[in-house]
Amino acid sequence: MSNQYEVLGKAPVAEDLKKLSPSNVHLNIKNLNAGYGKMEILHNFDLFVSKAQSLCLIGPNGAGKSTILHSIYGFTNIFSGKIEIDGKEITNLTPAEKLKSVGIAYILQDNSVFPDMTVEENLLMGGYIKDKTEESFQEAKRILEKYERLRNRRNQPAKVLSGGERRLLEISRALVMKPSVLLVDEPSIGLEPKYIEMVFEILDDLQKNEKKTIILVEQNAKKGLEFADIGYVLVSGQTAIAGKGDELLENPDVGRLFLGG
Ligand SMILES: Nc1ncnc2c1ncn2[C@@H]1O[C@H](COP(=O)(O)OP(=O)(O)OP(=O)(O)O)[C@@H](O)[C@H]1O
Ligand SMILES: [Mg+2]
Repeated sequence: MSNQYEVLGKAPVAEDLKKLSPSNVHLNIKNLNAGYGKMEILHNFDLFVSKAQSLCLIGPNGAGKSTILHSIYGFTNIFSGKIEIDGKEITNLTPAEKLKSVGIAYILQDNSVFPDMTVEENLLMGGYIKDKTEESFQEAKRILEKYERLRNRRNQPAKVLSGGERRLLEISRALVMKPSVLLVDEPSIGLEPKYIEMVFEILDDLQKNEKKTIILVEQNAKKGLEFADIGYVLVSGQTAIAGKGDELLENPDVGRLFLGG
């Protein structure tokens, strides 16, 4: 399976990646070796992303895309290397500390709403870790004011929501903590086209209007690269190609391997 990717040539180095995020880097991964147990999945991995930038990871199944998000959030074994926010090392903070102190939120790949709790209760669960519950209430209120689809169902159990509304609730729940970085694994998975559009519009609004930094993994490479400022093509735990999202859409190797062209 890996042979078809061998043609991709010389991998970009840290300086090349840095050029894609010229203004002050918000999140930076340096020379990371990480995996599960003793197994190393990511090899000498680097990543740069600025405040209010979006970066999309694409690549074959098993390349290590989710493992990058897991490593940022704190679910992997980190053998060496560093992860920094605004130049401050956060490599060994727990997920709870990352959520609370540096504002990194992780939106899971699989369905994670509580089906029997109401939409509003689900939202408030996003703030369970906050010391000041009043802040969570304020933020949940703001979110309900913003999203009519959730507001209309605030007192209904989450199980009545459609797939797209559920994804909206999953994203919104992460927002209750007012994170500066959103890690989003496969936002479009299992959704029909109109909901895929909706999810990307929401992410676009969060990036442009709320200045969130977004790192997403997307199986739908075309959608992901159209959305994101930066794209990294991950193969076997290393970045094989990196560029601006629209440049990668024009890249013939990317087209042939990931866009069905
Ligand atoms: N919790 C885990 N424990 C052990 N190995 C894992 C774990 N999660 C993932 N792996 C392994 O790490 C490798 C990379 O997996 P990862 O989930 O990061 O791939 P991916 O690029 O996200 O793939 P997909 O497109 O299928 O989601 C795979 O070989 C996988 O089997
Ligand atoms: Mg994955």
